[in-house]
Amino acid sequence: MSKEPKPVDWQAIGPSARMESTLNYADWKLTADTNDKNEPSRYKSTGHTISDAHSIEEGGRTYQAYKDGQKSSYYLPNDGAEQDRLDVQHKMFRVLLDGKLGLAPVPVDKPFHVLDIATGTGIWALDYAEENPLSRVTGTDLSLIQPKRTWVPNCEFIRDDAEDSWLFPQKFDYIHLRAIASCFSDTQAVMKQAFDHMNEGAYIELQDFVAVCIGDETMEGTGIHRWAQLLNTGFLAMGRDMLRATRYKAWLEEIGFTDVVELRESMPTNAWPRDRKYKEVGRWATLDCASGIPGLSTRALPAAGLTPEECLRVVQQALNDIHNRSIHAIIPIYIVYGRKPFAHESK
Ligand SMILES: C[S@@+](CC[C@H](N)C(=O)[O-])C[C@H]1O[C@@H](n2cnc3c(N)ncnc32)[C@H](O)[C@@H]1O
Repeated sequence: MSKEPKPVDWQAIGPSARMESTLNYADWKLTADTNDKNEPSRYKSTGHTISDAHSIEEGGRTYQAYKDGQKSSYYLPNDGAEQDRLDVQHKMFRVLLDGKLGLAPVPVDKPFHVLDIATGTGIWALDYAEENPLSRVTGTDLSLIQPKRTWVPNCEFIRDDAEDSWLFPQKFDYIHLRAIASCFSDTQAVMKQAFDHMNEGAYIELQDFVAVCIGDETMEGTGIHRWAQLLNTGFLAMGRDMLRATRYKAWLEEIGFTDVVELRESMPTNAWPRDRKYKEVGRWATLDCASGIPGLSTRALPAAGLTPEECLRVVQQALNDIHNRSIHAIIPIYIVYGRKPFAHESK
């Protein structure tokens, strides 16, 4: 259903102007902090590492393999390090969204069904269920890495491949997908299944990275910039366009969603901005990236044609740069939501 990836218009998502220590992105600016002290950070996790028996080991990491024990078409690990990273990333998203779990205007004053596709450790689903006691939340994932007996009675987890036919007994009022750019061979087909399994008036929301580094002249030629470019090349070679979030709005509208809103946010690669909120986002981003860069690279960089030695060098340089606050770079995040129209709204 998806069309061929077309090249991203870098100017459209890139910095609109360059100043010495200020990075312009979308409608706002991030100014670099030259006088920064590190502060300790706290975050919540789903608990201990949960091992999925349907996994295979490769290069010291484990990957999900539940379909006949085969290598899946999902290229990130599912081990303890990855689970910790996902919980850190969840914290980063909460800081970015001012504590909110989503931005779609979902009515929460009566019982409603929520689906979190590709839920990871389930931390979003658990938080949502806990904060919205009238909701019944289902989290699905290829890997069973969510708490088994949850302390939140209105939340359950099931193993499911979102690219298979959906068999849910009920329709949903809110479907959420986060950080799924690398997941599906056909994201628009997953969106279409969501549309078919939603009640009229229900919302879908996607929150996702566009896997590029955007920055001022301090970023040019750095390891983190090179790594992001090679990552995209590798994922494209494996059939995953990591820039696809730029097309979510158009895809939702094509399917028939209405009132589709696209918001562009930004994750600084570390605590370089002066702005308090983005500095905190950047702190979580450093932790996220320090663990995510190796995990994202293991399969993608060889697919980009790098030798094992080159992979290690590129990853090491990217890891060094992640801690370098004189590099002013961000990774774009798109938040896109839309509503399934009521029958009377259809033409
Ligand atoms: C980067 S993680 C994001 C997890 C979670 N949404 C979050 O934001 O914390 C992507 C997750 O998608 C899952 N996944 C990948 N392909 C999938 C598929 N076809 N169906 C269901 N889950 C999938 C992976 O197992 C992984 O847990």
